[in-house]
Amino acid sequence: MPITIRRATIDDIICMQNANLHNLPENYMMKYYMYHILSWPELSFVATTTDITVDDDLSNDKSNTTYEEYMTLDDNLGNSIKLDPTYVKPGEKLIGYVLAKMNDDPDQSGEPANGHITSLSVMRTFRRMGLAEKLMRQALFAMREVNQATYVSLHVRQSNRAALHLYRDTLQFEVLSIEKSYYQDGEDAYAMKKILDLNELKISNFAHGPKDEPVEDDLKSDLLEDIIREGLDNITV
Ligand SMILES: CC(C)(COP(=O)(O)OP(=O)(O)OC[C@H]1O[C@@H](n2cnc3c(N)ncnc32)[C@H](O)[C@@H]1OP(=O)(O)O)[C@@H](O)C(=O)NCCC(=O)NCCS
Repeated sequence: MPITIRRATIDDIICMQNANLHNLPENYMMKYYMYHILSWPELSFVATTTDITVDDDLSNDKSNTTYEEYMTLDDNLGNSIKLDPTYVKPGEKLIGYVLAKMNDDPDQSGEPANGHITSLSVMRTFRRMGLAEKLMRQALFAMREVNQATYVSLHVRQSNRAALHLYRDTLQFEVLSIEKSYYQDGEDAYAMKKILDLNELKISNFAHGPKDEPVEDDLKSDLLEDIIREGLDNITV
């Protein structure tokens, strides 16, 4: 299946917002996407596929619809008008994104340059293929290489085991603190941080190989309690 990871452009933001709405309860106005892409055009990335025969959770209800039927020719100039917000352009469908920025909080003006991951998601059908890891690595590398960010931060729901595994175990973020009731529904967030080391982040040094032992996560225990009990190095989710 042909999959491309490339920088996000202003032409992608409708699709990014669409994917965000499908995958996460934390949603943003279009101008917030624009702010990211226009201010830090080097930091946000999208994963797209040209294999439009692959159905995903967005188009299950339209599985018998051909690509042509997603499009129309009725703008009176003979141009196709995009109807399906999963398509960036004819033949290219967005399947994942990472929305990233530099921290521009004036309260942090004394801090060294640092980046922030605002949002990350991958469409359901395309998960567990390493796409989120690749999107994240591209964003982190760009933060370090282009903006000299010394570290990157993010928030993640305490219950989001998939994202926690990605951030903590795969990408070696550390849990800094718990922010109580960070989310609108009252759930706590882990505030996480990773020091950005250019050598570690170089794409040439990144190889996603098989891991030693697959570990089953029973999803019953609380991550922080596990860390306190077992110590950070002995926890795998
Ligand atoms: C979290 C999310 C982005 C992961 O995307 P993905 O493309 O499936 O992740 P990857 O394939 O790159 O996997 C990265 C690692 O996480 C692990 N992982 C992914 N999904 C997992 C799950 N459901 N449970 C446990 N581990 C999981 C993978 O096994 C892999 O681990 P490895 O490095 O040990 O092999 C995706 O599940 C998603 O979009 N979720 C909804 C939105 C969301 O939660 N975003 C994050 C908000 S903070």
